Amino acid sequence: MTDKWLDRPGDPCVMVIFGAAGDLTKRKLIPALYNLAQSSLLPKEFAVLGVARAQMSTDDFRQKMSRDIYEFATSSVDAQLWDAFEKHLYYLSGDFQDPDTYEQLQELLATVDQECGTGGNYLYYLATAPNFFNDIVWQLGTSGLVREEEGMWRRVIIEKPFGHDFDSARALNKNISGVLQESQVYRIDHYLGKETVQNIGISLQFGAKVPGPSVRMGTVEMNFAYADYFGTQPSTGYETLLYDCMIGDATLFQRSDNVEISSHQR
Ligand SMILES: NC(=O)c1ccc[n+]([C@@H]2O[C@H](COP(=O)([O-])OP(=O)(O)OC[C@H]3O[C@@H](n4cnc5c(N)ncnc54)[C@H](OP(=O)(O)O)[C@@H]3O)[C@@H](O)[C@H]2O)c1
Repeated sequence: MTDKWLDRPGDPCVMVIFGAAGDLTKRKLIPALYNLAQSSLLPKEFAVLGVARAQMSTDDFRQKMSRDIYEFATSSVDAQLWDAFEKHLYYLSGDFQDPDTYEQLQELLATVDQECGTGGNYLYYLATAPNFFNDIVWQLGTSGLVREEEGMWRRVIIEKPFGHDFDSARALNKNISGVLQESQVYRIDHYLGKETVQNIGISLQFGAKVPGPSVRMGTVEMNFAYADYFGTQPSTGYETLLYDCMIGDATLFQRSDNVEISSHQR
């Protein structure tokens, strides 16, 4: 995590994880946040507020994450850094379909803003089964939790799968755009990272002038591999996504240096 990152941490914010008691949170999201903290790319004014059905207190959630990080971290865990990180974890037990959950969320967010100095910027991560995406976005809309005002941003990351075919993806898009501006939406559908295709990537072959003393024409073959992304091994994909979202620059993720490129002549 070096040259492809800007040299500043993300904006102060609370990351609200819907589905925080689930697999993705412990396996990918918290380790990715921890890596960002280790690289000084996480703002000091930062908090995670987990929401799920499981009955847990904030203390229970902190203890659970503290156990899980030692199992799922992709780099060695610095106890001092983790202790500081852990104090910024909060938890709310509630059902995604219950409007009360969003009322309680609003109250807890105000408390977290005060305790952590997060300034009213909220990043909502939908780490849930896809059948909840519409409901959660709609409830966030009706409760005013995604309204951007007075310089505060509100962004939503939607996990995969984004629909199961063209029509369902279009319908989901239509519902989301009824609540959110396009600039507030971050989609993640990383089938390119699935094992079946991650070793394939894209290969291009073309004729070009090859630099060198003779400047001769030759065949250039370029291989774009996606193996580093959202595969089963430690990846920088989630770090990049979360960092993009925290600084509000979706283009970072598309920078060519994020794709492993190899080329050679034949
Ligand atoms: N797991 C991965 O490594 C992985 C990788 C890539 C993408 N994803 C995607 O990430 C998303 C989440 O996957 P996951 O593996 O984390 O799923 P999961 O382990 O089944 O977790 C789902 C979470 O949603 C909560 N939940 C379910 N119904 C709820 C409701 N009505 N109200 C409140 N909370 C509810 C569960 O809470 P309770 O346990 O308290 O009921 C749990 O915390 C999916 O879209 C998946 O495709 C997962």
